[in-house]
Amino acid sequence: MKILVTGGAGFIGGNFAHMMVRKYPEDQIVVLDALTYAGNLETLEPIMNEPNFRFVKGDIRDRAFIDTLFENEKFDVVVNFAAESHVDRSIENPEIFLETNIMGVQVLMDACRKYSVKRYHQVSTDEVYGDLPLDRPDLLFHEDTPLQTSSPYSASKAAADLLVHAYHRTYGLPVTISRCSNNYGPYHFPEKLIPLVISRALADESIPVYGEGANVRDWLYVTDHCSAIDLIIRKGKVGEVYNIGGHNEKSNLEVVKTILKALGKSEDLITYVKDRPGHDLRYAMDPTKIETELGWEPEFRFEEGIQETIKWYLANKDWWEHIVSGEYQEYYNRMYLNR
Ligand code: NAD
Ligand code: DAU
Repeated sequence: MKILVTGGAGFIGGNFAHMMVRKYPEDQIVVLDALTYAGNLETLEPIMNEPNFRFVKGDIRDRAFIDTLFENEKFDVVVNFAAESHVDRSIENPEIFLETNIMGVQVLMDACRKYSVKRYHQVSTDEVYGDLPLDRPDLLFHEDTPLQTSSPYSASKAAADLLVHAYHRTYGLPVTISRCSNNYGPYHFPEKLIPLVISRALADESIPVYGEGANVRDWLYVTDHCSAIDLIIRKGKVGEVYNIGGHNEKSNLEVVKTILKALGKSEDLITYVKDRPGHDLRYAMDPTKIETELGWEPEFRFEEGIQETIKWYLANKDWWEHIVSGEYQEYYNRMYLNR
């Protein structure tokens, strides 16, 4: 099989490419990435010289480029991770989110139709379901929970999901969609909560917690997300949505305190800052469908996964120190100073 992994120089796509290259030496894995601020070729360094791997720089919004690539490469499967992925940035500037996360998906699916790709898989998110109340732990997101979004980011992802459904129903494009909860693990860009806390705590810098830190996220170790997508593209039913999550709900404050404790740092580093506008209260996935129909099960509980993650950040300082010393610093000041 020849598999195109778009957005594969980012966090989850990078981990997925590592897994696929090593697990399926008989398959060809091509990563396409525009290398935006979030894409990093250093993430792909461990597999760059593998014979079944190739990197191509390009933009999923570029119709002519995508058309030529698909014509030349004859992909069997396309897994689309490429996206603008950070909620805070979408609040600051929604435009690029609509362009990449919606129009880019259309360009990819048009190419899949034209060149008869056997499967288009859209990597979506639990955020398309909106949020759940904090005082109803019995409520979970199911695949048929109505889409109800809060941020420009989640609205763009929900729009893409609807478009994917429409291409299946109208044109018969063989699609699948996965909606996963919050990921964490190696190669996570330090604008997101967990790597931000690890990198700042190691430098004894303040840790910005939005509001009271009571918002809840359902954390999944990134390789568990990757194994779920691998199962879906091989065994998943065309036209279906699969929720992915591991029942690891934690409040932001619990997450922050766990990391500070593991690093031997004081909780005095915690600084409460103005809340994110439209901040979703709680996400929680019901993964029963993928567990029962495809036999997926996660390998990591949060308690182990977070220790693995911290170990990785300690052992791979070069990877993230390059990032936090560059233009990231301007972003941090813009977002957090005077907040
Ligand atoms: P990321 O921001 O780390 O990576 C996104 C990658 O896409 C980057 O390498 C970037 O360069 C690339 N990209 C952006 N625009 C592009 C374009 N126009 N053309 C080609 N490449 C482009 O994101 P991530 O956290 O790895 O998320 C990957 C996907 O998974 C996204 O679709 C996101 O919505 C979804 N998702 C993320 C999470 C999470 O917790 N991070 C959870 C569920 C779903
Ligand atoms: O749920 C899946 C989603 O998870 C993905 O679709 C998104 O691409 C991904 O970015 C992530 O979105 P979140 O908004 O949940 O992740 P983030 O790491 O930005 O924030 C996690 C929680 O921590 C959220 O409640 C906001 C809070 N937070 C975040 C940052 C960056 C803070 O309190 N302080 C911070 O500095």
